[in-house]
Amino acid sequence: MDTIIEKITGDSVHDGKIIQKAADIIKKGGLVAFPTETVYGLGGDAFDADAAARIYAAKGRPSDNPLIVHIAETSDLTELSDNVSEAVYALAERFWPGPLTVIIKKNCRVPDTVTGGLDTVAVRLPDNMTARAFIKASGTFIAAPSANLSGRPSPTAAEHVEEDLSGRIDMIIDGGDIDIGLESTIVDMTGEVPVLLRPGFVTAEMLRAALGELSFDPALMSGVSGEVRPKAPGMKYRHYAPKAEMTVVEGDRDAVADKIKRLVESDAARGRKAGIMVSEENKDFFGEGEIICLGSRTNPEEIARHLFGALREFDERGVDIIYAEAFPREGIGYAVMNRLLKAAGQRVIKV
Ligand code: TXA
Ligand code: MG
Repeated sequence: MDTIIEKITGDSVHDGKIIQKAADIIKKGGLVAFPTETVYGLGGDAFDADAAARIYAAKGRPSDNPLIVHIAETSDLTELSDNVSEAVYALAERFWPGPLTVIIKKNCRVPDTVTGGLDTVAVRLPDNMTARAFIKASGTFIAAPSANLSGRPSPTAAEHVEEDLSGRIDMIIDGGDIDIGLESTIVDMTGEVPVLLRPGFVTAEMLRAALGELSFDPALMSGVSGEVRPKAPGMKYRHYAPKAEMTVVEGDRDAVADKIKRLVESDAARGRKAGIMVSEENKDFFGEGEIICLGSRTNPEEIARHLFGALREFDERGVDIIYAEAFPREGIGYAVMNRLLKAAGQRVIKV
């Protein structure tokens, strides 16, 4: 299959045509990758079970790992669920459009294929003009996981989508680089107490302020190797994994830099090329190794935005091993560490 790639330019006539072309593909049951504020999504018609099956196949994703349904207006919630709680509307009011996904009870219109057989559905209203125009023009809702091959880092640029899915999907809407760079926060609103299933740009503190109470999925920071099964099926898979084995080094900033330097030197002595993923503050500390700087420790949003691209870049540079500096688990830093630890298969050295 040839994949059409179209770039959004800011010219409303040109962009309108691209969006119409994408919507026509969705109406025919096809797949379109599109930009959102978090990462690129791989969209299909959320009410078409066959389109969902095609999404799983294109990604190589296990079909028990449900998709997020993207809507264009908060009022669309009633089309997906028969009882939407006040608390869900409070979240929508506070955080939508934006990087927050809510899990609610689904109605019978939502195909089981989309929800991996669960009786709940994940819903999100993205804060991206192209995404919302595309959903509206499609005349349906858009079921979309991140637009990467299963197991690879989520795509934060159209080129990443092309790398993974070219030839496997109908179209890519190139909306340029992504703002946030980490997938949406997921909160399960189906129980007595809301549960954080995946941390993201909307932080636990922000959710607690809006909801009054919030508990954490016990598997959040342990992942696959932990004993508890994550409630979001997708969180149980090895994720974001670069080809090289990765280790996170955590502790005082100077001690971390020093430890990474010594590890890299000993790898070099054994003929192994190391990748070093560090902050602006630490980057000049190293003589050897392939260094990628994620941004300043004073700007955790910048670090979040560059993380997935850096993991892909190490694959391209063909390093044998990667060492990553850990970041404070506060605010968005909590989500950064969640993704880093997953990419590292939970391997951490504390100094
Ligand atoms: O920012 C995002 O959320 C991006 C953009 C494209 O919107 N999407 C995204 O989708 O990250 P995906 O499929 O890569 O991750 C969705 C996560 C998976 O871990 C999945 O298991 C979980 O959401 N999920 C989906 N439906 C669920 C449900 N009903 N109950 C629990 N977890 C669910
Ligand atoms: Mg994903």
